[in-house]
Amino acid sequence: MNLRTPGPTPCPEDVLQAGAKPMINHRGPEFKELIYRITDSLKRAFDTKNDLYVLSTSGTGGMETAVVSTMSPGDKALLVTIGVFGDRFGQIAETYGARVSKIQVPWGKAVEPDQVRQALKADPEIKAVLITHNETSTGVTNDLEAVAKVVKDEFGLLLLVDAVSSLGCIPLPVDKWRCDVVVTASQKGWMVPPGLAFISFSEQAWQAHSKAQMPRFYFDISKAKSYHEIGQTPWTPALPVIYGLDLALDKMLAEGMPNVFRRHAQIGQMTREGVKALGLSLFADEAVASDTVTAVNVPPGVDGKKLVDILREEYQVVLAGGQQSMAGKIFRIGHLGYCTSEDIQGVLDALQEVLPRVGFTPSKAGARGRNQQCPES
Ligand SMILES: Cc1ncc(COP(=O)(O)O)c(C=O)c1O
Repeated sequence: MNLRTPGPTPCPEDVLQAGAKPMINHRGPEFKELIYRITDSLKRAFDTKNDLYVLSTSGTGGMETAVVSTMSPGDKALLVTIGVFGDRFGQIAETYGARVSKIQVPWGKAVEPDQVRQALKADPEIKAVLITHNETSTGVTNDLEAVAKVVKDEFGLLLLVDAVSSLGCIPLPVDKWRCDVVVTASQKGWMVPPGLAFISFSEQAWQAHSKAQMPRFYFDISKAKSYHEIGQTPWTPALPVIYGLDLALDKMLAEGMPNVFRRHAQIGQMTREGVKALGLSLFADEAVASDTVTAVNVPPGVDGKKLVDILREEYQVVLAGGQQSMAGKIFRIGHLGYCTSEDIQGVLDALQEVLPRVGFTPSKAGARGRNQQCPES
């Protein structure tokens, strides 16, 4: 099967095998050694000296930890939302009593840093900015570096980042960009199964935490911190995923993070070029299109669900449909983590064959473009 959803993503066979190792005592010395080694490796991948914790939860649990550990009910936050996951970040904050003002960017586009500047100027009550680095629902990457400059240099506010589908795939040097809390999840670019979130927490985030009053228990960062000090996690960790992560991180660091980023950029470009060569159009504004997931417009008159169903049933190519209001209007190709140019070529070849069956004639350029290879892969 060619699993090309933007998470869960395929895992190398030895990473999956590592997950089958016998369980250990998570309150014993082997676990302590394992979790410290993994935390060090993750800090290298995050490019940070900030505190970092491995949480046994999905990405959403990591986002909830970010919010409830830094804010109080009634606090005002600026939400930058460019899609479904941005909206979710705001819903979490509102659920716990934050007052959320929004920059709602049209789907398919990225935020302009000046929009953030103007929104922050207009409301001096805002204490934190919540932003998605890479919006998986639309295939768009925000210019986080530029936004972080505004938030930190000009306003000195707390910056909470959903980097669930970007970290480990596209550059996000956490310390250089001064992102206070950054969250990602195991099933995305990390080549491991679902079940873990990773969260980095800056000094400014700890200061915010010391005043934060939102109710919390499982997702309380101080519990993660106090247990980490003794080489444990507060709750029983997802050991099989942690075993796999240990190996996957070794592979990523041996490849070198700049090479990992380069590989994602090349595969992203190959996907976009391949899709366009078939005569299809990209949903995202190409200047800000993501190197981890490509959203493609379903051509007029084509049944998007039927297209995705045929690809899955007859070609074992598993793509994601559109979410919420985009259902049936776009489909999405994931190319993050363990993904080769052959995997993407398989998707393009299958599309070439299936599109005429759902009423769309791929362009000749698409046929010529078949078997294009991603450079250096
Ligand atoms: C950008 C982004 N944020 C948050 C999430 C939520 O993560 P999870 O499904 O692991 O809770 C996802 C998952 O697809 C995502 O892509």
